[in-house]
Amino acid sequence: MASENGQCTVVAGCQWGDEGKGKIVDVLAQDVDVVARYQGGANAGHTVQVGERAFILHQIPSGILHPGKRCLIGNGVVLDVLQFFEEYDALAARGIELDGRVGVSARAHLLLPYHKALDRASEDRATQKIGTTGRGIGPAYEEKAGRRGVRVADLCCRERVEERVREGLGRALEFIAAGGDDLQRDVRRSLEAGERLLPLATDTGAEITEALATGKRVLLEGAQGTALDLDHGTYPFVTSSNTTAGGAGTGVGVGPTAIDAVVGVVKAYTTRVGNGPLPTGFDPEMDRHVRDLGDEYGATTGRPRRCGWFDAVLARYSARVNGLTALAVTKLDVLDTLPEIAIATEYSTDRGGSTSNFPADTWSLETVSPRYETLPGWRSDTSGAKRLADLPRNARAYLDRIEELTGAPITMVSVGTRRNQVVRI
Ligand code: IMP
Repeated sequence: MASENGQCTVVAGCQWGDEGKGKIVDVLAQDVDVVARYQGGANAGHTVQVGERAFILHQIPSGILHPGKRCLIGNGVVLDVLQFFEEYDALAARGIELDGRVGVSARAHLLLPYHKALDRASEDRATQKIGTTGRGIGPAYEEKAGRRGVRVADLCCRERVEERVREGLGRALEFIAAGGDDLQRDVRRSLEAGERLLPLATDTGAEITEALATGKRVLLEGAQGTALDLDHGTYPFVTSSNTTAGGAGTGVGVGPTAIDAVVGVVKAYTTRVGNGPLPTGFDPEMDRHVRDLGDEYGATTGRPRRCGWFDAVLARYSARVNGLTALAVTKLDVLDTLPEIAIATEYSTDRGGSTSNFPADTWSLETVSPRYETLPGWRSDTSGAKRLADLPRNARAYLDRIEELTGAPITMVSVGTRRNQVVRI
C-alpha cells in the first residue's frame, strides 16, 4: 500500500545523502507530534527553507521548525555536544522556542574533540581516503563498538567520565602525537557543555512507545543515504552507521513492529560528495551545468557535489533494503531546462554481461557502464506546481518511469526549496 502516513514513519535517504530529507521531514512534520533522529551526527546538513529564512540543521531534527513538536536525538546518534549547543543557541537566537522540546537519549554516545582530530589525521595518512566530513564520525563509532565510549548517561558521574576521557585522549594522542594541549582544552569545554545536556537526557524508546500508545504520530529521521550505509552502501566509501530504515528502530529504541511506513527520498538525479564510485556521473561540462542548476554544494562542508543521471539500479536496491512504502522525489525543477533526461536501468559489466542488481563489490562500480533510457525533457517551469496535473506531461512520464523501475509509489514531489513547493500525490 502506498503510504507516507504511518503512525510511526521512517524517512530515509535512498542515494548518497543530500536527497533533501530535511525538506521532506519538514513537510511531514506538520502532521506529527514527535520527530527523532536515529543515526549519524554533525556530518549531516539538513537544509530547510521557511519563508525567506534558510536553516541548516546538523544534529537537531528538522521538526524543530514547527512550534510545539517534540524533537529527540536517539541513542544511535554520536552527539557532538559543543556543536549541538551552538546549533541550539543559534536556533533560540532566531526566535525558535526550544524549552521542553528537545530530548537527547541518555544512551547516545558523545563525540569528543579527539574523535574529530583522529578523523582528520587518519584521512591525512590513508592511502585510500574516504573523503569524510571531518566531523569525527568514524572514530566516535569505533569507540562505541570498542566499548570505550562515553554516553550521555555517564555525565552524571564526573569521575567515570574523567577516567574514560583521559584514556580516550591518551589513545588518540598516541596516533596524532601533537596538539595535546588544545585537545585537552576542547575536551574540557565539551564536558562543561555536557552538564547542560543532562537536563535534556531522556529514554527515547520509552518516550516514543508512550507517544504511540496514546495515539500520537512519530517521524524517525535518517541522515545520509542508503549508498552510505555501513552495511549496505558502497563500502568502504560509506559513513559509520546504519542509515537505512533498519537502523531506525535500534537508533531510537523501539522494535521493528512499531514502524508502519517508510518514506524513501531520492533526488530526481544523483549526487555524491566524498570519494567512491558514482556510476552515472556526468562528463565535466554537464557536471558543472547541473551543479549550478541545483546549487550542489555540501551543506556541512561546502564541497562541490558530483552530479549524474538518476540511477534506477541503486534506487530499486534502496527500495528493497529499506522496505519502502512510499517514495518522495526532490529537486524535479532542477531538470526543467534539459532537452533530454536519462535514467540508468542496468549496468553493463566489463565481462560483457549486465546486471540490474546493485553489486556488493564496490570496486566493480568503477568499471560498469550504465545502460540508459532517454526520455524527452519538459522544458517548462515546474516550480509553481501544486498538484500532479500541474506538472507537464513529460515530467509525469519521467516520474511514472521512476515509480515503475523502483517499484515504490511516489507520493511527494518537491519542486523548490520552499515548504509550499511540494506536490502531494
Ligand atoms: P563521514 O560520515 O564524515 O565519516 O563521511 C563518510 C562519507 O559519507 C563521505 O563520503 C562523506 O562525504 C559522506 N557523508 C557523510 N555525511 C553526509 C551527508 O550528510 N551528505 C552527503 N554525504 C555525506
